[in-house]
Amino acid sequence: MPIEKLTSSASSVAVHADLDSVLVSEFDIKKRIKKLGAEITALYGQEEITIVAVINGAILFTADLIRHIENPIRLDCIRISSYRNDTKSVGKPQVLGHLSLDLANRHVLLIDDILDTGKTLSMLVSMIQKMHPATVRTCVLLDKRGRREVEFEADLVGFQIPDKFVVGYGLDFAERYRNLPCIGVLKPHLQNPPEWA
Ligand code: IMP
Ligand code: MG
Repeated sequence: MPIEKLTSSASSVAVHADLDSVLVSEFDIKKRIKKLGAEITALYGQEEITIVAVINGAILFTADLIRHIENPIRLDCIRISSYRNDTKSVGKPQVLGHLSLDLANRHVLLIDDILDTGKTLSMLVSMIQKMHPATVRTCVLLDKRGRREVEFEADLVGFQIPDKFVVGYGLDFAERYRNLPCIGVLKPHLQNPPEWA
């Protein structure tokens, strides 16, 4: 599965005032998502896919990606309690609430915004496997491979990115910046604003 390289067009896009740099432009996100949708369509053939989106982070990615998947789909969401303290992972991710769709004998595609330490997706895949799905695969927009704390690789990856805390296109810092159309790195002085505690 080819993983898109970051292109120079990322730097030519208007930068949000709070960003130090744009890592992935809106244009490159759209282009890559179209290809990912085609890869998923080819991978599943005629099968129906049950998509489980990890919210809130994967909301924008999932909404755009499913419009490029031609298979019949069912959509569910799962919420994970934040186990982060600012930009660092602390403790264990916990599932909040429950899924509403039955996953037994279904082709489940778990979608998240970013694969970082691997704790969230490895925990969710183990949880879903206990529900006896036909298959479970994972798809992430971003992968910070250098940061893994548990062994885990996603089946489909949009972009490999360096070890930097990023915001935008669903990804937040203290719940802000999810609505940015691109993915970027915050200016250093904004990475720990006391008024956001
Ligand atoms: P993991 O469990 O460490 O793999 O982290 C997955 C979750 O951490 C993602 O779903 C994000 O919500 C969050 N996360 C990890 N890295 C970043 C980042 O750079 N920016 C924003 N959120 C992040
Ligand atoms: Mg998340």
